[in-house]
Amino acid sequence: MKGEHFLVAFAFCILASSFASAYDPSPLQDFCVAINDTKSAVFVNGKFCKDPKLAVANDFFFSGLNIPRNTGNQVGSNVTLLNVDQIPGLNTLGISLARIDYAPNGGLNPPHVHPRATEILLVLEGTLSVGFVTSNPDNRLIEKVLNPGDVFVIPLGLIHFQLNYAKTNAVAVAALSSQNPGVITIANAVFGSNPPINLDVLTKAFQLGKNEVKNLQKQFGGNNK
Ligand SMILES: *[C@@H]1O[C@H](CO)[C@@H](O)[C@H](O)[C@H]1NC(C)=O
Ligand SMILES: *[C@@H]1O[C@H](CO)[C@@H](O)[C@H](O)[C@H]1NC(C)=O
Repeated sequence: MKGEHFLVAFAFCILASSFASAYDPSPLQDFCVAINDTKSAVFVNGKFCKDPKLAVANDFFFSGLNIPRNTGNQVGSNVTLLNVDQIPGLNTLGISLARIDYAPNGGLNPPHVHPRATEILLVLEGTLSVGFVTSNPDNRLIEKVLNPGDVFVIPLGLIHFQLNYAKTNAVAVAALSSQNPGVITIANAVFGSNPPINLDVLTKAFQLGKNEVKNLQKQFGGNNK
C-alpha cells in the first residue's frame, strides 16, 4: 500500500514537473499582438537567428565601455545599455550589460523598473546611495551606500534608483537577466506619457491639485491641455 502511494506521488511529481517546463517563454518585449498574415508581421520574442555557420566574433563583441559618458543632463546620469540591439550574439541568452555614469554632487539614476530583468550592480568608482522598494503592502525601502568594489542586487520588477551625492564622478556596471530588460522611468511614464494620462487619474492617484499635475506633466513633456 505504502509503495503504491509512493508510486502515485512519484508519477504526480513527474507530471507536475513536465507541466512546469511547458510554461510559455517569458516575454522579451512589452507585448505581441497576434496576427495571421505573416507578411505584415514582425518576428518577436527574440530576433531571427543568423545561420550559425555565418556567425563571427564581432556578433558577440562591443568595444568602448571604458569611455566615460556625458552626464550633463537634467538628472546627471547616463546609462549605456548593451542589449541584443547592440550585441546581436545576445539573442535568446537572457543577459545584458550596462555602464552607468553619475555626475558629482547629486547625479541620479532616477526611480525606474526593469520589467523583464533582475539586476546586479557593481560600483567601479565613487560612492553611490542605492535603494529599491518592495511591493505592496509593505513598500519597504531597502537601501545602502556603496563604494568601489561593492555589489548590490535589484530584484526583478522593483522600483530602484542610485544617487551619487559625493564630490567626485561615479561609475557602475550592471548586469541584467534579459537580452532586452526594458526600462520604465516612473516619472516619465506617469507624467510624460503620450498621449497624457487624464488629469482626474493623476490628481487622485497622487493626491495633487490640477496645477501641480500640469506642472509635472510640463516637466516630462506630457502636456495636458
Ligand atoms: C486568424 O485566423 C483565425 C482562423 O482562421 C480566425 O478565427 C481569426 O479571426 C483570425 N484573426 C485575425 C486577427 O484575423
Ligand atoms: C550620454 O553620453 C553620450 C556620449 O557621451 C551622449 O552622446 C549622450 O547624449 C548622453 N546621453 C544622455 C541622456 O545624456
